[in-house]
Amino acid sequence: MNPVRLAVIGAGAIGRKHIEVIQQSSESILVALADPSEQAKELADALGVEWYADINDMLDEVKPDGVINATPNTLHVPCAMACVARAIPVLVEKPVAESPERARELVDAARRNNVPVLVGHHRRHNALTAAAKALIDGGKLGKIVAVSAHWMLQKPDDYFDVSWRREPGAGPLLVNLVHDIDLMRYLLGEIAEVQAMASSETRGFANEDSAVVNLRFACGTLGSAVLSDCSVSPWSWEMNSAENPIYAHTPENCYLISGSQGALAIPQMRWWRYGEKTGWHEPLISETLPVDAIDPFILQLNHFIAVIRGEATPIIDAADALRSLEVIDEIRQAI
Ligand SMILES: NC(=O)c1ccc[n+]([C@@H]2O[C@H](COP(=O)([O-])OP(=O)(O)OC[C@H]3O[C@@H](n4cnc5c(N)ncnc54)[C@H](O)[C@@H]3O)[C@@H](O)[C@H]2O)c1
Repeated sequence: MNPVRLAVIGAGAIGRKHIEVIQQSSESILVALADPSEQAKELADALGVEWYADINDMLDEVKPDGVINATPNTLHVPCAMACVARAIPVLVEKPVAESPERARELVDAARRNNVPVLVGHHRRHNALTAAAKALIDGGKLGKIVAVSAHWMLQKPDDYFDVSWRREPGAGPLLVNLVHDIDLMRYLLGEIAEVQAMASSETRGFANEDSAVVNLRFACGTLGSAVLSDCSVSPWSWEMNSAENPIYAHTPENCYLISGSQGALAIPQMRWWRYGEKTGWHEPLISETLPVDAIDPFILQLNHFIAVIRGEATPIIDAADALRSLEVIDEIRQAI
């Protein structure tokens, strides 16, 4: 089978990661970059691929088999709509849009035109996620009672030199917590109720730099999430999962899930339970679940290629990603 011809829109931080994995794959080739920046033009020249400042010109002239849209949040919907209008499957980075209203436009257009839209919640492709889901769905933890999620780290100051990252809405609720919310929905089901508080005291930006959130899942599980992009801490998916070498690795856990029969610490994948006798006087038994360390961006790309070839439907489409975005919106309203 011929490799699929892919174009990347937005060759910034995460766009370059997508380009790297496309180039490692024998099932795909990079045919064009669309990004008006000088750095993107230089990158296209260095890679020997077509460069376009305008995405519509690129789509009409190159006619790629699929597109990866790694533009700033507010461009996700217009760029994805341009692909959908031309019946080109698209992988849109998360969050699917900057607001639920905008995301609904894309959901409708994708349905109307019957074009697959995959959303870049790449943690769903991680083997750690698959192992946790198998344990939970297999009933090994019993009824899930509570989950505690931690996303606390320090983004370097120059991260904010890029203007859109300082603009209202582009704080860690939308850019980062949306990943954790999506992962918790995937593992534990829909979120029915939220409470929240936020602070922008440390960075002093228009956006929040820290927040705490309480969650009630439809299945009855209670949860809490703590996030901060300005605190020194070893606890976050980025630093704990080792899935992307650009982040320093700290071998800690960022999700603690406890049920009536056992508990799981993710991503170290330590599974805790009692033997015959239960209760706090008894010793807990634990084991570490073996998980293959495969780059989830490679697995995500393989999945996108299967979607383009009509062999799979998106593991997370625009409608599903909209629900994760709606939870972020509900959190914002609660704040
Ligand atoms: N899945 C993940 O783990 C992950 C990680 C980081 C970022 N993201 C998401 O990816 C998106 C991009 O984030 P980033 O940190 O790479 O941003 P970035 O600012 O580093 O890159 C964005 C790129 O888009 C380009 N661009 C701007 N306007 C454009 C236009 N009209 N047409 C084409 N290109 C245009 C910019 O020149 C820039 O190169 C964000 O939505 C972010 O939430 C996802």
